[in-house]
Amino acid sequence: MSSSTGTTGTTTVIANIATLVTNDPSLGDGSPLGLVRDAAVVIEGDRVVWTGESSKAPATDNRVDAGGRAVLPGFVDSHSHLVFAGDRTEEFNARMSGRGYTAGGIRTTVAATRAATDGELEANLTRFLSEALRQGTTTFETKSGYGLTVADEARALRLAARHTDEVTYLGAHIVSPDYADDPAGYVALVTGEMLDACAPHARWIDVFCEKGAFDGDQARAILTAGRAKGLHPRIHANQLSYGPGVQLAVELDAASADHCTHLTDADVDALASGDTVATLLPGAEFSTRAEWPDARRLLDAGVTVALSTDCNPGSSFTSSVPFCIALAVRDMGMTPDEAVWSATAGGAAALRRTDVGRVTPGARADLTLLDAPSHVHLAYRPGVPLVSGVWRRGVRVV
Ligand code: NIG
Ligand code: FE
Repeated sequence: MSSSTGTTGTTTVIANIATLVTNDPSLGDGSPLGLVRDAAVVIEGDRVVWTGESSKAPATDNRVDAGGRAVLPGFVDSHSHLVFAGDRTEEFNARMSGRGYTAGGIRTTVAATRAATDGELEANLTRFLSEALRQGTTTFETKSGYGLTVADEARALRLAARHTDEVTYLGAHIVSPDYADDPAGYVALVTGEMLDACAPHARWIDVFCEKGAFDGDQARAILTAGRAKGLHPRIHANQLSYGPGVQLAVELDAASADHCTHLTDADVDALASGDTVATLLPGAEFSTRAEWPDARRLLDAGVTVALSTDCNPGSSFTSSVPFCIALAVRDMGMTPDEAVWSATAGGAAALRRTDVGRVTPGARADLTLLDAPSHVHLAYRPGVPLVSGVWRRGVRVV
């Protein structure tokens, strides 16, 4: 196969696609995935300029033959924690022998992250990013939250911002061990000096609203302070227990309420009434051996659902969106079509983006080629490395 160049003015057609997922219901079969059979995509520079049936494709400078395989938008992983050092193999081992998961394990990673050099942290980050890219992820969000001092949080965000625009300030991951006896003092730091140092490097602000982390009043204070500095809210909500996080997310028009594992009917109604996406993170339930979030209940209520990895060394040490799709289909009541939509267009919605997560004229040329005739194989063939080509901003990178 030839490679596209990503050079403006040069056009490349990817032809002979058995199934193309566009995520534009006005195209193809009219379903939410906008499936086009026997399809082609034309790329110019970093953009998609044409999609449709192969036989109708316009003339181009270059041609790539997809070999009768499936093409879909690059995955949009809207929730990860990739700026960290160390690992927590022993904690995972203990959990698989019956110990429960708590927010407290975060402290182990905080100690390792503080002790790491900038170079070590960035090398780690780069390693996980290339791992994710090989599995089809072309857009990702990532957070601070393992520094918990002014300098360590700002450094995490500065490093993350070198690699993505979707950077989230999570100084409120847990109360810093340095403030164990003064949680109010830590909230004052997170909403004051730490926020001032972090806001220039971030787009989003997040809080872990959970027993053992921050309660609803603290979360509201932190997110409101972030908003006053130009950051937009997103929340770790209702992961380990019922709580106020989801309703707070909707009240503050957060882009996303993440986890959503323990939901009351009122939580589901609130999500259905607003623009807050429910981001489900099945890697966390897998790796903590916890109850699955009920995607079917949310979808049937009309809630927009995103699927992401939550990649972090404690609760979900996977960078694989295909793995999360397979779990969501097998255990959370999603159809393969719904899971693929949630991992692409849903992730884009959770980041309030319209330029990624779809393959339509004007969208960023972020594409995944599967070694399979259809996107359904992502769930049908779990654990198999099906991603055989990735284009990011029009450039073939895998
Ligand atoms: O999303 N819930 C909070 N944060 C992470 C876990 C972080 C950790 O255990 O290190 C999560 O699951
Ligand atoms: Fe998380």
